[in-house]
Amino acid sequence: MTKIRKAVIPAAGYGTRFLPVTKAVAKEMLPIIDTPTIEYIVREAMESGIEEFLIIVSSNKNSIIDYFDNNFELEYQLAQKGKIKELSLIKDLPSKLNIHFVRQHEQLGLGHAVLCAKEFVGNEPFALLLGDDVYVGNGNPALAQLVDAYEKTSSSILGTLKVADEDVSKYGICKPAEESESRLIKLESVVEKPALKDAPSNLAIGGRYILTPTIFKYLETQTRGAGNEIQLTDAILRMMSEEAVYSMEIDGSRYDIGSKIGFIKATLEFALNRDDLKDEVKELLNSLK
Ligand code: UTP
Repeated sequence: MTKIRKAVIPAAGYGTRFLPVTKAVAKEMLPIIDTPTIEYIVREAMESGIEEFLIIVSSNKNSIIDYFDNNFELEYQLAQKGKIKELSLIKDLPSKLNIHFVRQHEQLGLGHAVLCAKEFVGNEPFALLLGDDVYVGNGNPALAQLVDAYEKTSSSILGTLKVADEDVSKYGICKPAEESESRLIKLESVVEKPALKDAPSNLAIGGRYILTPTIFKYLETQTRGAGNEIQLTDAILRMMSEEAVYSMEIDGSRYDIGSKIGFIKATLEFALNRDDLKDEVKELLNSLK
């Protein structure tokens, strides 16, 4: 059994749902309270056993590269002032990470972004975590749940969540191969952003994947699909003719920080879970009612 060691995080999208700020600030750097979204994602992957990272960026996302690097000047200043707690906040993560970056020169879609990871991935299965989906797993991190499922199937696994009828057209939607109560299901097909009448289920792909390297063969020849973008879902569908693909319903809460309401929800719920903030935030919310 090959261990899942590598993770790919695409973060090169335009973030048009979050304009105007995303004109100059990477959506993945928007903080949930005091920590950029992408750090929560990197930490989830580390807790799931990932050892090596590739972040896919575009030309105006250098702040992501800077964030995962050391800032020696600031470290020196904090050390001089004896601000040990602040120092560890900025220093610890970069020194622990084995992280690489690659540029996606044209934003042709998620499938195209993943193809930029081909050299990094090589010939082993890998994890894919979308840069704007944050999970709080119930006990086990979201990605770790997929890694466990991979250990049972040795096949690609799509992390899913059940969505309301009015939301199916926003996601890639899975068609299970058979009816089953299990969270881990073999799939017959997947379809990107279907109209409700064409949606085969309410099982939406939610930003976490384990993929075998076979996917690159299909991404290389993938034509544009929904939204005129090169869609990962379309390449996964074609890969199913060669290999089994499963879905695994993730146990936990998911926040789509690429949408405004998802971002507000994440900020409030994370604040209500923090000992240093929860009392004041509760008071604030009560005073607003
Ligand atoms: P999204 O569609 O959620 O991101 O893509 P977006 O395109 O940035 O956002 P909107 O829809 O315009 O508001 C899912 C993930 O894939 C990445 C995004 O950065 C995001 O993390 N992505 C998307 C790329 O890296 N490259 C692309 O060409 C498209």
